[in-house]
Amino acid sequence: IAERLASGPLRGKRIIVTSGPTHEPIDPVRYIANRSSGAQGAAVARALSALGAEVVFITGPATVSPPDGVEVVPVQTAREMQAAVDAALPADAGVFAAAVADWRVASASDRKLKKTKDGLPALEFAENPDILREVARRTKNRPALVVGFAAETNDVVEYATAKRSRKGCDWIVANDVSPETGIMGGRENAVVLITENGAEHWPRMPKEQVAARLAEAISQSLSTSEP
Ligand code: CTP
Ligand code: CA
Repeated sequence: IAERLASGPLRGKRIIVTSGPTHEPIDPVRYIANRSSGAQGAAVARALSALGAEVVFITGPATVSPPDGVEVVPVQTAREMQAAVDAALPADAGVFAAAVADWRVASASDRKLKKTKDGLPALEFAENPDILREVARRTKNRPALVVGFAAETNDVVEYATAKRSRKGCDWIVANDVSPETGIMGGRENAVVLITENGAEHWPRMPKEQVAARLAEAISQSLSTSEP
């Protein structure tokens, strides 16, 4: 690792990457989750590390393994992920590829829920913190470059552009996850990079190549924003 950190355009840059789903407990044995594999986030972390960055990889329970050569911080819930991100700051850039659960169960039971004759359990939800938005709108310790992801259907560019302003991040990496694209859960991705200059459509390519191209763009951006 030391050898790799010693070279590459991102040497000396510290970058936080969030990845994977989060698991929100219902009780000690049950949880609410989503289908994120963590593949795109792991690929981005690997690509940034390959360019020499010091990567803090904060990951929910993903199906793919984290890359070698990065600092791995495993978490379960959105709130744990947020605490891990806060603890990892300051950083030069943050890439928020995690599929964070929007809601958690408001009062998760510390005992396993049992079937009863009195009816069905009712789950009440609470909204999770928006980790990306929180970091992007920080006045202290805001990374120079904050990158979010957005999986959308239909008007992808319009939704992602609105999401960029709402969150206050610099870039949004958007993709169309309509069933007919076959993107969701696949090996390839077709993304649109939304920046202050508008929308840049990238051709469909393997997730590793999307990651490599994004890492290059991040490297460019951090070198031009240098004091
Ligand atoms: N994100 C986050 N914390 C959350 C929700 C989302 O950090 N609680 C980040 C994701 O990692 C991603 C970006 O915000 O980089 C966009 O996530 P998305 O789910 O598309 O945004 P939401 O604001 O949750 O909007 P939607 O209602 O479309 O799910
Ligand atoms: Ca969401």
